[in-house]
Amino acid sequence: MATLTSKSTTAAAVVDTAAASVTAAVSQPTTNGTLSLKKIPIHLQSSQNRVLIKNGKIVNDDAIFKADIYVEDGIIKDVGPHLIVPGGVKTIDANGFFVLPGGIDTHTHMNATFMNAKTADDFYSGTRAALAGGTTTIMDFVLTEKGQSLIESFKKYRSQSDGLACCDYTFRVVIPEFIKGKTDSEMDTLVREHGINSFKLFMAYKDVLMLRDDDLINVLIKCRQLGALPVVHAENGDIIDYNIRKLKNMGITGPEGHLQSRPEEVEAEAVTRITTMANQVNCPVYIVHVNSKSAADAIVEARKRGCLVYGEPIAAGIGSDGTHYFNKCWQHAAGHVMSPPLRPDRSTSEHLINMLASGQLQTIGSDHCVFKTADKARGMKDFSMIPNGVNGVEERLMILWEKAVRPGKLDPRQFVAITSTNAAKIFNLYPRKGRLAKGSDADLVIWGPKPHVIRAENHNSNGDFNIFEGTQVSFGPLVVISNGRVVFDENGLHVVQGSGRFLPCAPNSSFLWHSIRDRERTLPIRIDRDGKDEQQQQQPNQQQPTVPRTPPTATVAAAQNGNTPLIPSMVPGTPPQQFPQTIEPPYTKENMGTPNFYKGTTRSGVRNLQDSSFNLSGAQIDDDKIGKTAIRVQNPPGGRSSGIW
Ligand code: URP
Ligand code: ZN
Ligand code: ZN
Repeated sequence: MATLTSKSTTAAAVVDTAAASVTAAVSQPTTNGTLSLKKIPIHLQSSQNRVLIKNGKIVNDDAIFKADIYVEDGIIKDVGPHLIVPGGVKTIDANGFFVLPGGIDTHTHMNATFMNAKTADDFYSGTRAALAGGTTTIMDFVLTEKGQSLIESFKKYRSQSDGLACCDYTFRVVIPEFIKGKTDSEMDTLVREHGINSFKLFMAYKDVLMLRDDDLINVLIKCRQLGALPVVHAENGDIIDYNIRKLKNMGITGPEGHLQSRPEEVEAEAVTRITTMANQVNCPVYIVHVNSKSAADAIVEARKRGCLVYGEPIAAGIGSDGTHYFNKCWQHAAGHVMSPPLRPDRSTSEHLINMLASGQLQTIGSDHCVFKTADKARGMKDFSMIPNGVNGVEERLMILWEKAVRPGKLDPRQFVAITSTNAAKIFNLYPRKGRLAKGSDADLVIWGPKPHVIRAENHNSNGDFNIFEGTQVSFGPLVVISNGRVVFDENGLHVVQGSGRFLPCAPNSSFLWHSIRDRERTLPIRIDRDGKDEQQQQQPNQQQPTVPRTPPTATVAAAQNGNTPLIPSMVPGTPPQQFPQTIEPPYTKENMGTPNFYKGTTRSGVRNLQDSSFNLSGAQIDDDKIGKTAIRVQNPPGGRSSGIW
């Protein structure tokens, strides 16, 4: 059936998904790697895709409430009780089960070549697996080798994802070296012209991807200037290199060597180092795949010092552990090899969950980077040659629910925050993604009881091994809707190859950058010891700093954006000078650099909801009712008042 009907169905029995014709609506990779695009049938391109989800328990990061959701043209048109909708609408009865914003996986590697091996999943099979698990957006990486153009690499990845991806996706571009005048200019172009708002930096993989401290600092400075978020693989590559040589000399060649070459403190040291550098440069930083208690604790310590640092554990760290590296079966042990390694300390998972629950860590990724057993076998005689990576894009939500929501460590709202909303806020996609509200993309999941055991033989990834093999889960996605279309239900997957869109991400997500820009106003102190500043102040036309001075007697040297030293007067040979301070308020069209991504204020003078300037805690269920600046409360807490709250 290709047409939509007004048939009413339940979450357990959704019909009429036009699946029959979907399979023909694909773009096929040809043998030479190029794509020959076949046309998507007209009913799938139609602007008339209308879906009503009835009787759902809507879960956002700040509220749970009973309501219907009406979707048209891939957008949520209305959320509310007993919605009245036009005829000819496909109706899905959620049967009182949860309806969640589609998951956002902050960390995947599809179609990647890494450690001389090619991942088993490309953007088709990988996003298909994502949808089967309730994830409707993935954040992937453009891997670049030294000497390659970042922009060319980005374009190559786009050519391998556009036309294949079944769900929406973004990219972060890996910076493998910093060449002044080249790397910074390419970063500039990627942010301003290509919708990149985040770069990945490696502190491990010495001689291949690892950046040294001075280059890390240069990239952090550039990121701060651009309002782009550095996401960091934090492990000390020099120590790992030493440990690998030492272990191999001792005759250790198996996967247990991988674990022992990368102890927890090697991860924690790098977290402390990068958070210190980022704080000094006044740049936020995001640590990917936080895989140990020590690294999580180092993030907490950094946050206590005032660093703006965010942390992402992964499904593998929550649902598996590092005892598997000692398994007698080489394939089993190698199947768990990833970096940083999973930890044999079995309390790690609970520790990471507690950090998520308390807000010290904010998101969960999968780091889905799957290699077939035959490719892992490259490291049969040398653990350091085993391609690093595990699965998780399909299992991420189910694992977190099982390990954290079921035992009562997280409630469903926190689950939504961690699996979707926080990522949308951090990477500037909110409220388009990460929220069920009028105007948001219609990416949603009906989530309910679905007891089953995870098995490689049933998973949707092309991989032949599953690190969660044998894990019993109780809840899962019953129906998944991506861009307004049912892509998964009790009859399985009905994906459309190539229907996923690249999501350009604007820089300067206010969640991250508001406080950074404010911190730029806290200026270093220079003591006037030669009286020159007093003379200057007596000249009426002399431009003065426009920021308050601390303390009043000090002369300030304002930090400038960009690669100029933060404190010019502290650089040897630089004459003392006074810099007029012109820090632009953030988030204006002008200083964003990517005007196309910003819609300016609404008619009522508030920020347009399609621009992101929400923080992790501030969203309210009536956010869509714009223009309300004050609420008169009849019976406020603590007694009646006639004042304006
Ligand atoms: O082992 C891992 N994590 N493989 C993927 C590459 C990376 O470091 O994220
Ligand atoms: Zn990494
Ligand atoms: Zn990764």
